[in-house]
Amino acid sequence: MTFDTVTEDRPLRAVIAGAGFIGRQWATELLLHPDVSLVGWADIDPSKVPAGRGVPAFGSVTEMVEAVRPDFLVNGTVPAAHHEVTLAALERGVSVLSEKPMAVTFEEGADMVAAADRARRLFMVSQNRRYLPGLVAYRRTVAELGQLAILTSEFYIPYKSVKFLEDLPHPLIQDMAIHLFDAARAISGADPLSVYCESFRPAASWYTGACSATAIFEMTGGLRYVFSGSWSAPGLQTSWTGSWRAIGARGTAVWDGGSVIGAEGVTPVELEPDPHQARDRFPGLAWALEEFVGALRTGRPPQGEGHDNLASLAMVTSALESALRGERIKCPLYGAT
Ligand SMILES: NC(=O)c1ccc[n+]([C@@H]2O[C@H](COP(=O)([O-])OP(=O)(O)OC[C@H]3O[C@@H](n4cnc5c(N)ncnc54)[C@H](O)[C@@H]3O)[C@@H](O)[C@H]2O)c1
Repeated sequence: MTFDTVTEDRPLRAVIAGAGFIGRQWATELLLHPDVSLVGWADIDPSKVPAGRGVPAFGSVTEMVEAVRPDFLVNGTVPAAHHEVTLAALERGVSVLSEKPMAVTFEEGADMVAAADRARRLFMVSQNRRYLPGLVAYRRTVAELGQLAILTSEFYIPYKSVKFLEDLPHPLIQDMAIHLFDAARAISGADPLSVYCESFRPAASWYTGACSATAIFEMTGGLRYVFSGSWSAPGLQTSWTGSWRAIGARGTAVWDGGSVIGAEGVTPVELEPDPHQARDRFPGLAWALEEFVGALRTGRPPQGEGHDNLASLAMVTSALESALRGERIKCPLYGAT
């Protein structure tokens, strides 16, 4: 992967696609960043672009990109639009910082990564959980455990559904699980080889889709990663980043997904304060933007870079395929036929 850097001595010109919940969080970060100017904001419903922020509104991403010629686009549209919007930007020479999940299918994701390579543009998926102080400290703690045998995460949240989740037949696997699966890769340093998954709807659920799942991944290095979760789980909820246990050659480390890390056999690493933490800022976005801007300026590949993030997307799409076929599925590798 090679992408061109932006060397001109001026702030990077940024635009946003999508003026829903996350688009508004990204606007806050882009307006705060000293090396970024926010020069356009598009939504298929342009009336959603907040008038009070002084950013020109557009009803089409293509029209916006051709009108303002930005350096990069933040893709905060719904997952079903990610492929179309990201390609529209990359094919016009615009780098992309996208919301998760990269795409709905692995093939779409591979197509987006290939488009970025062809255009020599940076394509990164913001996996904002990677920057949480708890995850950073837990990752460093787990690194002390030696060869990992088992990693588990439990995600149990009683979450009322929203429109775009109701449109998905498997909302937990298709939307949320990427956070946990990508975190499993970050924490373990291992990549997926195969998966067996069941995705289902508990009889008492308020969802119409399969909002609960269990999955066993075989990862590189002999690791087994076991995920279980539900969006229809009343009582004793876990954190939004799950509840974790890692077992290695030298001991065990647990993390509550927040600020509590425990370990036996090794010493738990202490959390460092997050300088971007503020009540009105969405966790992790500032770090992801910092990494993306740094990459555009220096050429240093960021976490979440498209080729790498495909392995996280593969965990989602392979888990879904396994659930649909009732079989263990091999996870695809980018570039393999
Ligand atoms: N990182 C996180 O923790 C986090 C949190 C929330 C949402 N997200 C992700 O952000 C994305 C958006 O989620 P949301 O909650 O903001 O949804 P949302 O429904 O609130 O907003 C999405 C917006 O995209 C617009 N849109 C759809 N197709 C478009 C297109 N082709 N061109 C331009 N605009 C288009 C819609 O009109 C809508 O305004 C999803 O991929 C979601 O998974 C991530």
